[in-house]
Amino acid sequence: MRQRAAAADLEGSLAQWNPTLAAMPVGRKAAGFALRARLEWPIMDGSNNAQLKILLGVTGGVAAYKAPELVRRLTESGAAVRVVMTAAAQRFVGATTFQAVSGEPVRSDLWDDQAEAAMGHIELARWADVILVAPATANFMASLAAGLANDLLTTVCLASQAPVLVAPAMNQAMWSHPATQANRRVLEGRGVRLIGPAEGDQACGEIGPGRMVEPDDIVAELLRAPPRLVSQLLKGLTVTITAGPTREPIDPVRYITNRSSGRMGYALANAAREAGAKVILVSGPTALATPAGVRRIDVETAQEMFTAVHRHIGSTDIFIGCAAVADYRPEAPAGEKLKRSESSMSLSLVRSADTLVSVAELDDGPFTVGFAAETEHLERHARQKLQAKKLDMIAANEVGRGKGFDAQNNALLVLWPEGRAELARAPKPLLAQRLIDLIAQRYDAWATDDNAEHSA
Ligand code: C5P
Repeated sequence: MRQRAAAADLEGSLAQWNPTLAAMPVGRKAAGFALRARLEWPIMDGSNNAQLKILLGVTGGVAAYKAPELVRRLTESGAAVRVVMTAAAQRFVGATTFQAVSGEPVRSDLWDDQAEAAMGHIELARWADVILVAPATANFMASLAAGLANDLLTTVCLASQAPVLVAPAMNQAMWSHPATQANRRVLEGRGVRLIGPAEGDQACGEIGPGRMVEPDDIVAELLRAPPRLVSQLLKGLTVTITAGPTREPIDPVRYITNRSSGRMGYALANAAREAGAKVILVSGPTALATPAGVRRIDVETAQEMFTAVHRHIGSTDIFIGCAAVADYRPEAPAGEKLKRSESSMSLSLVRSADTLVSVAELDDGPFTVGFAAETEHLERHARQKLQAKKLDMIAANEVGRGKGFDAQNNALLVLWPEGRAELARAPKPLLAQRLIDLIAQRYDAWATDDNAEHSA
């Protein structure tokens, strides 16, 4: 039932995007849709009636004078552009200029009743396929990183699920300042893409990094690597993901844990949400922010993770076990802090419950994806694990010597009963998108087989 609802949704969105693709069998359709959303701008090459909707945010830097040129380049390539200016941007360029080049009313005030009556800020946030901020000042980057909503542009950014691209423009010292660099990292970690800045002469007379990338080059960058649109690949489906380490208490102040940062699981939760799924993230202790639109359930121990997952498994279509669960836990955690008295002590450990196996064993359970962290013979060990745990898919990575755990980048070897795919080394958010695309394809084939079995 669930699968049929999802297929119908995919059908509807595909018919809008591409009638040829809509006529294909379901499995190929899912693959084609993923490819289309990521590799082409159907809209920007003028080959499709649908128009890519770009919301261009202009903030108050000298480079704002180049933004009308950027609007022209974007509209020439087939996009519909609406401009939102900050108050400071209006000191550099007038709204009338942008109105003339975009052919659309320009918005700048959150409190403009008339404009809100025509298209409210939430509608504007929903309207955008992509938000591009160029030029982006240090102040804007800081506001975006902090999640402020104190003017129209920051409010729209916060209210939108569209991918955000930012072309910074500022004095070189401001760009290099640790505060700006920290904001840059926060934004990148959240999937915001930075275009530039370029290096060279600056309006202030200094030389260094901080110039806005030229409008032509911004458009070329968009075409070279189109931002991923919020897709509908997993629309109507519920994805439950475990992430992070677990903590197994020894006594009230000590515990056994591991080096997992939770980044991969959180990136997967974000990517699944971007693909239209309802996402439940069962997370061990991490320092990460909850991805927007994701329901997070915090747990500490392997047993708590097991219980939380099984509470939601009945409504789960896809389960991804990404957590680094402690395999063993102290048999009898002490009720009081253990005293240091003996010269040595031993701890009796027992196996903790394997959530992944318990989900894979369920009759009528979800499509189940596991992870395997291996230090050697990656493919052999992962294939054995796929079979032994009766998984539908396994994503294996090499760990140790700076690889895998607690790292920003990773590479994955993905195996399923009839096939394999190698996902090249990439930042975890990007890798997560690719894995979610692959899971969506395999899920589609699995659900079709499953339906066929049930109707046979
Ligand atoms: O067998 P191994 O521990 O390498 O398997 C790793 C996979 O199993 C991961 O997907 C992990 O999330 C899952 N797992 C689990 N519960 C455990 C141990 C591992 O869900 N107790």
